[in-house]
Amino acid sequence: MEMSVEIVAHAPAFAMVAETGADVAAREALLDRAMGPMRRKKSSEKLRRGRRPSEGLAFVARDASGGVAGTVRLWDVRLGEGGRAALLLGPLAVDPSLKNAGIGSALMRHAVAEAARLGHAAILLVGDAPYYGRFGFSAARTGSLAMPGPYERHRLLALELVEGALDGAQGTLKAAGRKLKAQATMAA
Ligand SMILES: CC(C)(COP(=O)(O)OP(=O)(O)OC[C@H]1O[C@@H](n2cnc3c(N)ncnc32)[C@H](O)[C@@H]1OP(=O)(O)O)[C@@H](O)C(=O)NCCC(=O)NCCS
Repeated sequence: MEMSVEIVAHAPAFAMVAETGADVAAREALLDRAMGPMRRKKSSEKLRRGRRPSEGLAFVARDASGGVAGTVRLWDVRLGEGGRAALLLGPLAVDPSLKNAGIGSALMRHAVAEAARLGHAAILLVGDAPYYGRFGFSAARTGSLAMPGPYERHRLLALELVEGALDGAQGTLKAAGRKLKAQATMAA
């Protein structure tokens, strides 16, 4: 069999870039591969369904040939009824064949930096503290917050982008993102 590519001794370059409409099918297929079909049953999904990601905060890790190697998005939420604004991060996923190459970390750092640049105050997520701790996330400030559905309390993590942003924050997270439907009815 003819080899058409050189053997790559180190990880090829991936670019962390804004997701485009052309990436949606590849992103969904990647999420199914990385997380399985139960991903749609998560409590986080309740806060995402029918909404668009926060403006400018949907990213893919793009490989040299334009393919999607990883994905992360952030969503607008409110902390409690009428509460303060924050972001919910997720899902974060990397193609299973490319795990442990630093792509997840690069996506996380890019997402956090962009959220801070856009003036957001705090990011929440449901995930493994041993992974997300390296990016500054912890459960220290989420004790009075709750997801709208079943979740493991110790996995609700937060990162303040503005110091003190989560002081006194309490209540159940509510979806606050732009609705998908609004796009279609805008012209009416
Ligand atoms: C979790 C995930 C996004 C990490 O992406 P990645 O590109 O493989 O990760 P990175 O290369 O940036 O980091 C790898 C490091 O994270 C560690 N790590 C990965 N998942 C971890 C977890 N769940 N808990 C603790 N550490 C974890 C690895 O052991 C490795 O550690 P090392 O740096 O000490 O060697 C990816 O494995 C994935 O898509 N998993 C399936 C979907 C998923 O679980 N998403 C997160 C939902 S909470």
